[in-house]
This record gives sequence, C-alpha cells and structure tokens, in this order.
Amino acid sequence: MPVKKKIKLKKKFKLLLLIIILGVGATIIGFKIYNNHMFKQTIDYELQKIGYEKETIDLIKTKLKDENIEKIKNNDKIDYIKDIIKEKYYLDKHFDDYLTFYENNSKKSFKDIVTLVNIGATKGFYEDTKETDTSLKEAILVNKYNTLPKDYNPGNIKKFSSTYAYGEVSAEENCYNAFIQMAKSAKKDGITLILTSGYRSYEKQKKIYDDMKKQKGQEHADKYAARPGSSEHETGLSLDILTYNALTETFKETETYAWLHEHAHEYGFIERYEEGKEYITGYSAESWHYRYIGEELAKKVKEEGITYEEYFAFYVQNE
Ligand code: DAL
Ligand code: ZN
Repeated sequence: MPVKKKIKLKKKFKLLLLIIILGVGATIIGFKIYNNHMFKQTIDYELQKIGYEKETIDLIKTKLKDENIEKIKNNDKIDYIKDIIKEKYYLDKHFDDYLTFYENNSKKSFKDIVTLVNIGATKGFYEDTKETDTSLKEAILVNKYNTLPKDYNPGNIKKFSSTYAYGEVSAEENCYNAFIQMAKSAKKDGITLILTSGYRSYEKQKKIYDDMKKQKGQEHADKYAARPGSSEHETGLSLDILTYNALTETFKETETYAWLHEHAHEYGFIERYEEGKEYITGYSAESWHYRYIGEELAKKVKEEGITYEEYFAFYVQNE
C-alpha cells in the first residue's frame, strides 16, 4: 500500500476513535446528570437536605409509612428520630404519639417512650381505661388500662381438689387442666405446687381491694391488688401458686419458684408481675402470680423476655 494511503487510513481511524471516546464520555456525563436530577427528586435527597444522615434515612425508609415520611419531610430535623425508630418494638401507627410523649418526657429512655406509648400507659394507671377485647379468650389482656365488664363470663369454671389447693380455689377449665398437668410433672421432680387463689368474681375482687384499701390505704392497695374489673383473677386464667410453708414474701427464694421459672411456660403459664417491670404492669412484683395464656403464646412470651403488656401490644394487637 502506498505510504500516503496508509497515513490517511491512520487519520481516519484516529478520528473514529475520538468520536467513540467522546460519545461514550458524553453518555456517561449525561447519565450522571440524569441520575443526579432523579436523585434530587427522591426521599433521600429531601431528607439529606434537612440534615439527616444515611443511616437515619435508611431507617426512615424501611420503618415508616409514606404518610409519616411526609411529616418528616415537612418538618425541621428531629434530632432524636433515629433513637425512636430503631427501637425493636417501634410501631409506626404510634409515630405522632411517640413524638408528643417524648417532648413532654424527654428524661425517659427511648425504650420506655416506645413501651409506654405501645401499651397505652402515657397517662398513668387507671387514667385511660378501655374495655378489653374479651373475644381473645386465653390471650385476653386485663390490666390498669384494659378492663373487664362487670358481668364478664369466664366460661366453665372448675374447682380444684384439696390435693392442689388451700381452701376454695377454682379456674377456667383450660387453665385448670393445664395446672393439673403442670402440678403432676412438678411432683415427679419432687416439687409441690399449692394454689392459694384462682378465679375471683367482680364482687370478690372488690372485697379484696376494698379491705386492703381500708387497712393500708389506697396507694398500698393499688400496688398489691387490682381494682375490681381490672384483675386477671376475674378471667379465671390466673393462679396464685405457692408451696408448703411458703410465704409470698419468700417464695422467690424457693426451689418451687425456680422450677416454675424454668417450666411454667411449657404448660402455658407466665409469671405475670416481675421485678423491675412495675412501671409497666402497675404492680409490685408477685413471684407467685401466674397467668395462663396457652402453651404456644407462653413459649413466645418467655422467649421474647418481655411483659405480657409489651408482647400483646406488639404481637397480638398488631396482627
Ligand atoms: N394481686 C393481683 C394484681 C390482683 O389483685 O389481681
Ligand atoms: Zn394473683
């Protein structure tokens, strides 16, 4: 090939290469501009502009519904928002209530803010009560916020024989059967379970509460006894369990308590009023008070390691 033609071809090749490079470059730049433009329209950009960091933005996007994201977008930066959202039991339906409760109680931990809002305890014991959902049967929640109707029917109530109880003690039949099974298993391990209280009518609970109030005053009574309509004993699903020669005060030190602590959930029972949880349950710890919620639920509550109030708010009511 003549030299001149060779040079011409080389030039053409170089030109083609240049055009390709420029084309690719322009495409990349165009793509970047387009992406940037799209990004500016996204939630990320808007939240970044308000001052939120990536971790918080990701949390907001995964845990909040559009309607609450809109509220965040239309407000100044809320410094503590991440601390609330990252709580394990955060429920987006309570978004507004968490913020309001925190604004008025900023000394409380974020865990407590979420817990107290979830369980409906922001106003104090007995201050914001509603009638509980009685259709839930064994999963029913009865406490200082969720009450029973005066004429609540606990279903079939059965009386325990003196093998299992001191005096007259009865319970709803599923609870009754579960306890007998549990007591028999305990016996095999050399442990004796003795019942001191079970089902109580509204009137009986009223007498217990009123007597205590008369003797020790209202503040004391409210720590140890439920007001009528608010006691789990009225459901027929709660049992007070002790053993030979045991007092309520020292029951926690006994091997019977240790046995129950390890096994009660296998029979559908949970210890209901534990130490350190008084601000949630509303009662001084009662190592002898067990609530029947059925095996499946009891195992889950035990595994989760939270009070029934917390479990109910997050898993039962939220289903
Ligand atoms: N002692 C428990 C809280 C009751 O009265 O139901
Ligand atoms: Zn009790």
